[in-house]
Amino acid sequence: MENILILPGDGIGPEVMGEVTRIIDWFGTHKGFEVSIDHDLVGGCAYDAHGAAISDAAMEKALAADAVLLGAVGGPQWDNVDYAARPEAGLLRLRADLELFANLRPAICFSALAEASSLKRDLVEGLDILIVRELTGGVYFGEPRGITDLGNGQRRGVNTQVYETYEIERITRVAADIAMKRTKKLASSEKRNVMESGQLWFEEVNRVIAADYPEIELQHVLADNCAMQLVRQPKQYDVLVTDNLFGDILSDVAAMLTGSLGMLPSASLGAPDAATGRARALYEPVHGSAPDIAGQGKANPIASIMSFAMALKYTFDRGADADLLERAVMQVLDKGFRTGDIMQPDMQLVGTSAMGDAVLQALDELGS
Ligand code: IPM
Ligand code: MG
Repeated sequence: MENILILPGDGIGPEVMGEVTRIIDWFGTHKGFEVSIDHDLVGGCAYDAHGAAISDAAMEKALAADAVLLGAVGGPQWDNVDYAARPEAGLLRLRADLELFANLRPAICFSALAEASSLKRDLVEGLDILIVRELTGGVYFGEPRGITDLGNGQRRGVNTQVYETYEIERITRVAADIAMKRTKKLASSEKRNVMESGQLWFEEVNRVIAADYPEIELQHVLADNCAMQLVRQPKQYDVLVTDNLFGDILSDVAAMLTGSLGMLPSASLGAPDAATGRARALYEPVHGSAPDIAGQGKANPIASIMSFAMALKYTFDRGADADLLERAVMQVLDKGFRTGDIMQPDMQLVGTSAMGDAVLQALDELGS
């Protein structure tokens, strides 16, 4: 049987993942999706329980799972904890130890939500871009890092932006393979005007595409310009490949184009296993733990639900079920159900579990 590890995490994580669990159950009952589900801690809650942002036991489960579904990590109560034990370190360890180097962040603007975007409707309506973010390298993991005391009343903070050829090559291939199934347009973003690691990125992307993807129309865009272009004319992009740090920033920008950070799912994938063809995978919403609304039943569960749809597609090879779930979410939005983050005049304001109810009802209508 397939097995899923759910790591709800902190803040709104447990609330949104509660809705995902109900959706998984629906697919079990109605679509024969038999799966065993286990839960564990990650983030601040794990730190409070074990003194580490993820325990070795939870890591073991994650390594053995077909898919990990994560809610969110972090909160102000852990702001003064060391980086090594901070909530975010749990997520970073999962990404590193599972070798999840490819992070897919689709930004799709549903027409029902075009008004919720801070940009004008015609700029975002129909938007469908995919950010492919490198996830296990760059400044997030580069050494040396740290804060040192210089002894003269000054301190020095250091992080290292570092990429090697193989890291750039494999993420380029993931992005290019996807681009080949879409419009064959690929944009790559770095800061080669000031960073050698960016120059290497640029050269390696060029090399891989020229050698193996002659049909792809490749464009390079400096990361600052890319941020500007994303708000100026987002639909000019289709697939966008970039490094860990720029991908973090650009995907938040892209998220806002879709109306709310509460809408964006993501998949983090490793290399496919040589024997089974299946890749290690972790699915999580792009949004964070939203401590300001945690525990109030207000959070939007759609990003987490859509992340599960990505799991159905990428890990469980259930493309039809993934489509069904996406259509159910669209129907719910078309009917006017809105959580606070995407609320619009004349729409019906609902909380987390009522949004879950609405998706389940749409699934009943569309798919059973
Ligand atoms: C994200 C988040 C994480 C990141 C944090 C929580 C470590 O912002 O997934 O985009 O910076 O990668
Ligand atoms: Mg981020």
